[in-house]
Amino acid sequence: MTKHRQIGIGHVGVVNTDGHAIGLDIGANAVRAAILAPGTMDGRPSVTIHGVGEMALPPGVVVNGVVQEPATLTAALKQLWAEEKFACRNVILGIANQQVLVRDLTIPNLTPERRAKALPYQAKDIVALPIDQVILDFCQLGQPDPETDMVRGLLLATPRDPVVAAVNVVERAGLQVARVDLAAFGSLRSIGDENLAVEAVVDIGAHLTTIVIHDHGVPKLVRTVARGGNELTEQIADRMSLSVPEAEQTKREVGLDGDHAEVRQALLQGLRPLVAEIRTSIGYFRSTNDNPIIERISLTGGGSGLRGIAAALGDQIGLGARVVDPLQHVRNRHTKEATEARYLPSAVSVGLAMGAAA
Ligand SMILES: Nc1ncnc2c1ncn2[C@@H]1O[C@H](COP(=O)(O)OP(=O)(O)OP(=O)(O)O)[C@@H](O)[C@H]1O
Ligand SMILES: [Mg+2]
Repeated sequence: MTKHRQIGIGHVGVVNTDGHAIGLDIGANAVRAAILAPGTMDGRPSVTIHGVGEMALPPGVVVNGVVQEPATLTAALKQLWAEEKFACRNVILGIANQQVLVRDLTIPNLTPERRAKALPYQAKDIVALPIDQVILDFCQLGQPDPETDMVRGLLLATPRDPVVAAVNVVERAGLQVARVDLAAFGSLRSIGDENLAVEAVVDIGAHLTTIVIHDHGVPKLVRTVARGGNELTEQIADRMSLSVPEAEQTKREVGLDGDHAEVRQALLQGLRPLVAEIRTSIGYFRSTNDNPIIERISLTGGGSGLRGIAAALGDQIGLGARVVDPLQHVRNRHTKEATEARYLPSAVSVGLAMGAAA
């Protein structure tokens, strides 16, 4: 898939000595790891999956993508590696929070060193946070313009503290962070289809939803909003006077397909703000890009497990929507090893590991 240049704080080899790359997705409900081997087939990048693991987290450990209880998370990671007997320790860590910013930027064609020095000046009018509190990177798209020697690309800005906190937690678990990447790019790589002209890739988590709109695999818009599946649970709990665990169970069992008007009403009500965010993102993208047609909305994340969600979102937004298998691009996805894994891999963890081939 596309060459995304990752946020550059990596210092160890991305691929472990056994040839495997591990993507690590730290979410509100769980930490999830996917182990892939990057390779090539017929001259194109091709990956196989070799392990999947997940460790549930109690509420409050990770909130809106940010680590709040580092010691608990470190313990969960140690336990995950011990239980799954993962041999490799260099991980590719995904970052997601509402303040991650991705914008188009055209800058002079400079050496990497000079570019790193110039980026803060280029970014200071775009990034809302003080420049010394963000990690900046530039993901070049295409070749320099031969006439102007300018390069087009994406400016990536991530608040520094949450990244540093996550890296520390992972390293305290005896692992090494080989690379930090945007979680959004992970779901884009695993569930996006680079053959589509314009596709909206939407990962609905517990607290966060990320929306990536790409054109033939090149990300054009990336947004993370503080909306997710937990809101739906809260709606059901409130409206039906249920406890949160009861509401969660009802949500999963009945969903939008079930013949239960009250649950359906609560879910549709709960989905409304999320639908509005997706619609706004698509509208903004279209109005700033000559109104291209969005071919499809592709869904992933735990929230996409809601029964009937693809049809409901598709209806409300007026576009075709479907839930996509995070292993769609993985060559050995039909083998016993992949289909009998104890956990379904998260699209983010798979796509982060896929990025090792980029
Ligand atoms: N079968 C299902 N039906 C409806 N909702 C579901 C189902 N399975 C999971 N969910 C919801 O998905 C959400 C969790 O999604 P996911 O595991 O992707 O989140 P996360 O990555 O841990 O969190 P975040 O990305 O927000 O930090 C929860 O709100 C949960 O209720
Ligand atoms: Mg998530």
